[in-house]
Amino acid sequence: MEDNMDIKTTIVNTLHAALADELDHDQINELLEVPKSSKLGDYAFPTFVLAKTRHQAPQQIAQALVAELDHAPYEKIEANGAYVNFFLDKGEFAEATLADIFNEGDHYGDATLGENGNVPIDMSSPNIAKPMSMGHLRSTVIGNALANIYAKIGYHPIKINYLGDWGTQFGKLIVAYHKWGSEAEIKADPISNLLKYYVRFHAEAEKDPELDDEGRAWFKKLEDGDPEATHLWEWFRRLSLAEFQKIYDRLGIQFDSFNGEAYYNDKMDPIVDDLKAKNLLQPSRGAQIVDLTDENLTPALIKRSDGATLYITRDLAAATDRYHQFHFAKSLYVVGNEQTEHFKQLKAVLKKMGDDWADDIIHVPFGLITKDGKKLSTRKGNVVLLEKVLDEAVDLAKQQIAAKNPDLPNADQVAHQVGVGAVIFHDLKNDRLDSFDFSLAEVVRFEGETGPYVQYSNARAQSILRKAGHHADRQGNLTIDDPAAWDTIKFLAEFPATVLRAAREYEPSVIAKYALRLSKTFNKYYANSKILVADDQLNARLALVEATSQVLQQALALLGVQAPEEM
Ligand code: ARG
Repeated sequence: MEDNMDIKTTIVNTLHAALADELDHDQINELLEVPKSSKLGDYAFPTFVLAKTRHQAPQQIAQALVAELDHAPYEKIEANGAYVNFFLDKGEFAEATLADIFNEGDHYGDATLGENGNVPIDMSSPNIAKPMSMGHLRSTVIGNALANIYAKIGYHPIKINYLGDWGTQFGKLIVAYHKWGSEAEIKADPISNLLKYYVRFHAEAEKDPELDDEGRAWFKKLEDGDPEATHLWEWFRRLSLAEFQKIYDRLGIQFDSFNGEAYYNDKMDPIVDDLKAKNLLQPSRGAQIVDLTDENLTPALIKRSDGATLYITRDLAAATDRYHQFHFAKSLYVVGNEQTEHFKQLKAVLKKMGDDWADDIIHVPFGLITKDGKKLSTRKGNVVLLEKVLDEAVDLAKQQIAAKNPDLPNADQVAHQVGVGAVIFHDLKNDRLDSFDFSLAEVVRFEGETGPYVQYSNARAQSILRKAGHHADRQGNLTIDDPAAWDTIKFLAEFPATVLRAAREYEPSVIAKYALRLSKTFNKYYANSKILVADDQLNARLALVEATSQVLQQALALLGVQAPEEM
């Protein structure tokens, strides 16, 4: 049997060898059905579509096809009415799958699809002087998982933290700091106090609109390089970044670049000039815009009436810079779905400029996290503090461990792995576009469909292997008499296809759901059979346990979740 084949792919290939002139792989894949009863095999192929080309009745075609197919990988192939039923040779399939997993080790499921193409991933990108929000956490962990998944299939991901370190809000912050701030307060707790000033600014500006003008004026000064404005901005940025870094350290996530919005200050003029040269820039009430009516989009505001640049101006410069630097295969932006219009505008403007590579820009949106049904808003002070979430998750993990496994060595380290893993996994197990209400109790639930459940399944497998005291015989001649063993094998064989699907759909939840299903199936197997009984199947059973543990660890690693050996 060939490498990395799940059952369906194996059958598609068998059929394609006989039907190459009539159907392609995708068509065969579409047509294959899972029979209602396993007595009818693992998959069934309906022959009706061939009636036209072969000028025969489907029953006859089914009979003829059985004779044309390669029977080697199967227990049997038989015609049943208009269908061809495939019965996999379970023993052989199990052996081939386990051999793949052991031979390839951590490279099981790797692909070369990406041909080393660069994939910059714009991710996390919190705003300076504000706490990192749950939305930024989503972007961070989804982006990190996508980087791992894309690396596995042969791309070269570049993780870019496009810090929100520029914009009118810094003018407002400077005004607020001058009016109500103190150096001592900021030094003691930078983000909380900067946030406090910012929230106060908005409250007061509602009564006194002149504050907004002052804020805008200070931002203009900042853009013009005023030393005081620059000094304050630099200070706010440095302190904020140090706070963010604490969270990244706890999550175990690194970046390749922290080039944020400010990095593009001197890279916008060429873009604006180019827009002008291409006659794309139009005046509108004193500002400069690109009209996008033909694309059914609101106009892109490139320069304000006072000459200040905007969010999209910086994104145009950043996108262009990334293209020239990386010649990317694709350029991902993991940003909330509330910015969908922004990314459509960005791509539309680039296309108008003649940048065809804009087609390779992919906005990977995700749903909103609400709290008690309401939007979280930094301005209104309705925020969930990420550090608090991580602290409490780790605390809960600690309590859980103390109750279940009081003698566990490195309990603190394991509590960190489990608590942080719970938060990451919770975020990744939902389809990324689903919105969900945030409740700490839900995030750190340790039973059911959670990260700790997957971690625990792996730890359980590890404990069996420790008890067995030696490495499994990697031949794995397993007699598959147990449906849970067969299901486990089938899931293990599906891992490579699952990784490809997660990449194609930009959807780490595909991996998270896979890990949950594999855990569940494995736990059923574990409950059904006495794995450690010394009979002639012992080594084969241990091989299955070892392979499962290996694949669970890989799935968790792709998600950025650690896998403690004991918990
Ligand atoms: N800082 C922005 C925010 O918090 C996200 C930036 C997303 N990336 C981008 N290239 N626009 O909303």
